[in-house]
Amino acid sequence: MHRPRRLPLLLILLGLLPAVARALLPPPRFPGPHARPRPRAGTGDGVGGGYEFETRYFRQRLDHFSFSGEEEFFQQRYLVGRAGAGGWAGPGGPIFFYCGNEGDIAWFAANSGLVWDAAPRFAALVVFAEHRYYGESMPFGSKDKAYNNSRSMAYLTAEQALADYAVLLTDLKRNLSSESSPVVLFGGSYGGMLAAWMRLKYPHIAVGALASSAPILQFEDIVPDTIFYDLVSNDFKRESLSCFQTIKDSWKELDEQGNGQDGLLKLSKTFHLCQTLNTTGALSDWLSSAYSYLAMVDYPMPSEFLMPLPANPIKEVSS
Ligand SMILES: *[C@@H]1O[C@H](CO)[C@@H](O)[C@H](O)[C@H]1NC(C)=O
Ligand SMILES: *[C@@H]1O[C@H](CO)[C@@H](O)[C@H](O)[C@H]1NC(C)=O
Ligand SMILES: *[C@@H]1O[C@H](CO)[C@@H](O)[C@H](O)[C@H]1NC(C)=O
Repeated sequence: MHRPRRLPLLLILLGLLPAVARALLPPPRFPGPHARPRPRAGTGDGVGGGYEFETRYFRQRLDHFSFSGEEEFFQQRYLVGRAGAGGWAGPGGPIFFYCGNEGDIAWFAANSGLVWDAAPRFAALVVFAEHRYYGESMPFGSKDKAYNNSRSMAYLTAEQALADYAVLLTDLKRNLSSESSPVVLFGGSYGGMLAAWMRLKYPHIAVGALASSAPILQFEDIVPDTIFYDLVSNDFKRESLSCFQTIKDSWKELDEQGNGQDGLLKLSKTFHLCQTLNTTGALSDWLSSAYSYLAMVDYPMPSEFLMPLPANPIKEVSS
């Protein structure tokens, strides 16, 4: 596949890492620009994706690494779930802690069935912590203020987020008189990177981490910069070589059509677009992001993570 200009979601997580972000264009969006997550009951207290949790807030330090004496705080949201009918084992019992990624935590809680499904077997307490600068966990009181400028955004780093989780967990365990609880970290994508890094950086706080789809080594000079699209291409090749080839050939075809007489108008009609295209690139960007999203959520069961999709969506598209 060609290398489109649009930022794929999996790389969005690297947007927090300035060195990598420089190479990437548009600003992070999670869910992605084309995702339409459905509002669910239970974004507050109650049920999200059928899982019950209580919403709590923790007074979190804005800057864990300065000694300026001018301390600022923000309210960090976290969800505490019931582990099935039997509930938590109580003080000393295990804690499953989801390291929130770049989005509303209720949404991750509703889409991380593995954590909820496993918790009853271990009588574990389930905690989903929201990442600073996302969802309701906004420093400076509002999203506008938090994202205002480089000064206000200076505290949006993976290091600060990990320290948030370490402080939150330590305080929670103390409150529950459960300092001896083994903690297992969970996370997917950027959240998975956080889970793995947290286990490395704070080994005294967690006994293990399950990092799912977490490209912890995806940095310049470690993996080829084409790796993301190589993987997307492989997903399509695996289902159908001819589908892969058709997509591959389509980029040139689109360009040729677009450059022809009334080409953009014709393309706009063919694809039933609401507005006439100004460039062919806009269309190929849209298409390539659709293929990328399909690869990112190519789950073997129907899901609604980024958008409602059937099981094995790439197979569905290829057949
Ligand atoms: C954003 O920052 C500027 C100064 O750089 C300030 O004048 C303005 O009031 C701030 N806006 C918000 C919403 O905080
Ligand atoms: C621990 O208890 C204190 C006092 O009630 C409370 O302010 C704080 O938010 C609690 N921490 C957590 C992580 O629940
Ligand atoms: C094409 O450009 C015009 C003028 O700049 C703009 O109004 C229109 O929204 C653009 N169309 C699309 C589909 O971006």
